[in-house]
Amino acid sequence: MQCLTCILVFSVLHWTTYEATYVRSAGIGSAASGTNSAVIFPVIKQTVTTTRPVTEGTHINYMQNKFSLGSSATGKNSVNFIDFGNGNIRPDSKDGDCRYFYNEKVTSTNFVTFNTGLGTSVSFYEQRKNLIIEALLQSEADVLCLNELWYVEDLIQIQKALQGNFPHSFSIIHDDAAIIMDKHTLAQPPCASVIFRTTMKCFMTHCNTSRNLTEKAGCFLVTCNASRLLSVECLTCVIISGTHTVNVIEKCANTSPSRQFNAFNLPGLALFSKLPLAHRNRQNLIPNMKRLVSRWVLSAEVEKVGRIGCTHFTALMPFSYVDPVVPPLFSSFEEENLNNTLQILDYFKFAKQYILMGDFNQSPLRANVTPTFSDNYNVLRANGLSDPYVDNGGLPTFGRGNPLSIFQDRNLILDHIFHKGFDYISSKRVFDKFIGVKGQSIPLSDHFGVSVTLQLKNCTALP
Ligand SMILES: *[C@@H]1O[C@H](CO)[C@@H](O)[C@H](O)[C@H]1NC(C)=O
Ligand SMILES: *[C@@H]1O[C@H](CO)[C@@H](O)[C@H](O)[C@H]1NC(C)=O
Ligand SMILES: *[C@@H]1O[C@H](CO)[C@@H](O)[C@H](O)[C@H]1NC(C)=O
Ligand SMILES: *[C@@H]1O[C@H](CO)[C@@H](O)[C@H](O)[C@H]1NC(C)=O
Ligand SMILES: *[C@@H]1O[C@H](CO)[C@@H](O)[C@H](O)[C@H]1NC(C)=O
Repeated sequence: MQCLTCILVFSVLHWTTYEATYVRSAGIGSAASGTNSAVIFPVIKQTVTTTRPVTEGTHINYMQNKFSLGSSATGKNSVNFIDFGNGNIRPDSKDGDCRYFYNEKVTSTNFVTFNTGLGTSVSFYEQRKNLIIEALLQSEADVLCLNELWYVEDLIQIQKALQGNFPHSFSIIHDDAAIIMDKHTLAQPPCASVIFRTTMKCFMTHCNTSRNLTEKAGCFLVTCNASRLLSVECLTCVIISGTHTVNVIEKCANTSPSRQFNAFNLPGLALFSKLPLAHRNRQNLIPNMKRLVSRWVLSAEVEKVGRIGCTHFTALMPFSYVDPVVPPLFSSFEEENLNNTLQILDYFKFAKQYILMGDFNQSPLRANVTPTFSDNYNVLRANGLSDPYVDNGGLPTFGRGNPLSIFQDRNLILDHIFHKGFDYISSKRVFDKFIGVKGQSIPLSDHFGVSVTLQLKNCTALP
């Protein structure tokens, strides 16, 4: 998602009309907890290491301690605990460039990353969801990283639809066909708190003099303390659901009889694969720290291919930077995006070969491309990651050419498939066809997808 703000802003704009009915039907004071943290994800089935008291009440450290159990050196209490110990040094890795283990059959693998934009803030949400499922079923991808699959209901629907084609998949909510969180918890909407209503009331009383949408967003987040008071799930849900208040309420605060799940997939990430996935891990890039939108990485070991990560970094947004914690961790979206960059490099520091895919919200300095956070992009390149899509003339994935994108004046390549230690075979833009719906021609998302085919280096061919 590119546009946290516009959404928030748009949603805010429409709140006034909705207020009366909402307050009446919801009934102030009827929320269960009465605290400012709607705890959405308290139950996890798998191995979890909780490192220290959680300040915001809703964050869970999903790091599996599988790799660090035997390593006494791994500091589990350090903030930078995204550390695999020796886990990434594969026993079958002879050196940094190849794996002699798989020499007998070096096959190529197709990787695809696609930001689905499945928040109601992106137009044609309902129609696009069905078109996206159809398109994904046609995909030649072996490994697929999806971004912005925000609503648990959608995530589970897509998992079920793709299960035949992609038998292996996971998110912070599911593991293959299993839901790994308490179903009761997943039934709760992210904004089921009194505080949400209080914040909305404040908005309508204090923000109606704001001159423009940017100002309204600032008023909501800062003057009404929304960034401080709302749980991260609620805050993110409001921001990505905007445009129409009715959508915000429907998706973030109400339970729906037509839905089994009302909860929110906090990082918006899901990884699908035709090949078996081992060592699955879900990692918050800034653990235990509330953000406007939390940034995570899903990682796994793809059988006979190697280590991969699926992520989504902090976006540039059209309003003043707001840090939801005091003292602030960062002073700009770019700085937060840089921290995402450094954290992920730290996460993969022991992996000599790996693939990293997703929406990085970084666009390179290249012909026919508008740079955005390109210094941060260069940090990834400087750390040995290749980006063959960009280097082989890849087309923009966001902006001009896609009527749903918020930046119609820019040509951006925000979506990338980086790799280290693989041989490049081919690349192309995917999920970029427009589809006729009720006399209109619409793209599947506000982003287009990127497809890259890679193959492990052949050890015996090396000196
Ligand atoms: C803003 O809302 C308050 C409370 O409803 C109202 O008293 C005030 O007149 C409104 N201000 C403007 C400029 O509409
Ligand atoms: C919104 O208003 C503020 C001043 O209150 C101004 O600085 C800003 O440029 C305006 N933004 C837009 C998009 O007009
Ligand atoms: C926001 O928080 C500040 C600091 O705690 C407080 O003074 C102010 O009254 C709060 N505003 C609202 C609308 O709750
Ligand atoms: C990223 O930010 C967090 C929170 O401030 C900090 O603890 C961490 O050290 C930062 N990471 C890097 C690599 O600078
Ligand atoms: C690997 O390289 C060796 C030496 O160049 C070659 O003989 C062999 O066929 C290659 N294997 C594959 C699977 O490409």
